[in-house]
Amino acid sequence: MAPDAKSCRHWRLEQDSDGIAWLTFDRAGRSANSMSRETLEELADLLVEVSRRQSAGLVIRSGKESGFIAGADVNEFTGLTGTDQALTLIERGQTILGQIEALTIPTLALIHGFCLGGGLELALACRYRIATDAPATRLGFPEVKLGIHPGFGGTVHLTRLVGPLAALDMILTGRSIDARRARAIGLADYTVPERHLENAARAMIRHSPSPATPGFVRSLPGMWFMRLLFAAYLRRKIAKRADENHYPAPFAVIDLWERFGGDPTGMLAEEARSVARLITGSSARNLIRVFLLQERLKSIGRQGSSVPRHVHVVGGGTMGGDIAAWCAMQGLRVTVQDIDHQRLAGVVARGARLFRHNLRDPRRVEAALDRLIPDLRGDGLPRADVVIEAIVEDVAAKQELFRQIEPRLKPDAFIATNTSSIPIEELAGTLARPDRLVGLHFFNPVPKMELVEVVRGTASAPETVARATAFAGAIGRLPLPVSSSPGFLVNRILMPYLLEAVIMEAEGIPAAAIDRAAVEFGMPMGPLLLADTVGLDICLAVAGILAARFGTEVPQRLAALVSVGHLGKKSGRGFYTYAGDKPVVSEKNEKGPARNELEERLVLRLLNEALACLREKVVTDGDLLDAGVVFGTGFAPFRGGPLHHIRNEGIGRLHERLKRLEERYGERFAPDAGWQELLLEEKESP
Ligand code: NAI
Repeated sequence: MAPDAKSCRHWRLEQDSDGIAWLTFDRAGRSANSMSRETLEELADLLVEVSRRQSAGLVIRSGKESGFIAGADVNEFTGLTGTDQALTLIERGQTILGQIEALTIPTLALIHGFCLGGGLELALACRYRIATDAPATRLGFPEVKLGIHPGFGGTVHLTRLVGPLAALDMILTGRSIDARRARAIGLADYTVPERHLENAARAMIRHSPSPATPGFVRSLPGMWFMRLLFAAYLRRKIAKRADENHYPAPFAVIDLWERFGGDPTGMLAEEARSVARLITGSSARNLIRVFLLQERLKSIGRQGSSVPRHVHVVGGGTMGGDIAAWCAMQGLRVTVQDIDHQRLAGVVARGARLFRHNLRDPRRVEAALDRLIPDLRGDGLPRADVVIEAIVEDVAAKQELFRQIEPRLKPDAFIATNTSSIPIEELAGTLARPDRLVGLHFFNPVPKMELVEVVRGTASAPETVARATAFAGAIGRLPLPVSSSPGFLVNRILMPYLLEAVIMEAEGIPAAAIDRAAVEFGMPMGPLLLADTVGLDICLAVAGILAARFGTEVPQRLAALVSVGHLGKKSGRGFYTYAGDKPVVSEKNEKGPARNELEERLVLRLLNEALACLREKVVTDGDLLDAGVVFGTGFAPFRGGPLHHIRNEGIGRLHERLKRLEERYGERFAPDAGWQELLLEEKESP
């Protein structure tokens, strides 16, 4: 190390022959950089050293291959107990990044890979930013997704640098942008290929041009009278997508900007107070919890086993086609087999649309298409590391297929079935080696639904389960380990909630009123619209299987609709009548009984089933239950998952309500035995 170099646990400071200080962030013990209290305090000390040295300039960069900085360390948020404590922490962060701003020498952030949240705030505290032009470079403020907004000066600096329109778009949506867009809006001063990064930084420091400004036109919406109008417009726009009581963060950003947009010092102070309030509120706490649950599923997907390179998918229908295209987009070589060659042509056409939408760059689209190979005869079978079966939901057809393909497989290949209702054991019975079969239950639509249930059959080898889990993780999905029981976790929990909606509709309550109660609770879509979208025939089949296993009833109304061909969206009529893709809903038929009553019936059936699944150990713990239900059904993320919601609302109180519903509507509301353990927990807690 050079004599003037200085190293701490997470940072390295070196001075080159031009007198430029290079400060490298390389968080100890982590594969990616995130900002914790400790890393920030070290940065503060090193910045004092930099200002003492009178260097020619300061370049801040990352020592990690994975990217610049992923943001603040979210784990530390959970330890915040009160607003004052949060405020102290945030103000300290602002002060430290303020030290960068206060340096009189040119300062520059050298960005590759992700530069998010607190990482982008650090970059914004520098006078210049240079980013690599690689597709992996992403700049953004994802904070709203955690129920907060930037707190280390990000709202102030971004609006000042790129103008309010572009800044608020990034902050309110949480969407990250690539290097090209960052350059276009003035967030990055230059974008260069990775190999030119250091030279570009040196040149920028040497020439030290005036810092970028957004110019008059882009600053215009920041004038006070424009601010009032624009803030009102933004509030209306956000209110269409999010309820302020459930998701207060974007509304807080608009308030902050409306009140302090012309006063950077006031805005900085209020930014800290606003985040301190949000981060200790229930919405942010629960969204942070959901983020950490997602991290847990991701870490399950990172564990162990080698990852397949060649995937063979049998069945090129709705699911198989999308699974194949998704795998090809993730860089795997994929062969897709179907008995119907037209289906295979459809797979390629759908794949091309997916690739164009997501990859954009024509060379990458072409490469992904090269990896997606239609395979009418199944020539890919002997080379595949994994075979995914996604043919029709028919036991005999699947068994016959397994008999045919098993002799052609590589000895170490495993088979994953996408069945949503057939027990894995029933299919494994036909295999000479049942230990190599596992369930990989993807959800529809595959590119949107991140969750994949990894189903362990009684004969599945632990090694097979581990490989299937690692495979799901490697293709960017969230693997949820579940036991092989009817409906697995997600469909089992959804079904009573859907069926309660069907019963209410049969009682004469308007479909739109039922759906609205669910949406107001925080579900992404009402249960009847969901049933129509999935297809009422499919709902009826799954409900039948679960009813046979659990001795419950399927409402007559569902069978009646299917029998007259009202199958939902695909037939133009189900619980709703459709004009194109949209249900026709008039104000008149939206009226119904009090929302609370409807919500209670829907939600309590879902919660009751969730506790039954936990008691039966369909998943091994409560956090996995919450993760599965949030990512598999979209269960109100700001409530943190069904089990967490029960605890927040009061276990005894919900149990009482369930018993009242049982008295009124009968056995289907009988509290599951799983409540007893929770009631005990509540009694014993101080
Ligand atoms: P689909 O009917 O759209 O596609 C099935 C495809 O399999 C058809 O293209 C058919 O030609 C082909 N096929 C039938 N027998 C074959 C054979 N012996 N060899 C090769 N190809 C054959 O069905 P979908 O909806 O894609 O479902 C497939 C599987 O995924 C089923 O097990 C289903 O339960 C499951 N699933 C479906 C979901 C959905 O929402 N559609 C969600 C999750 C799982």
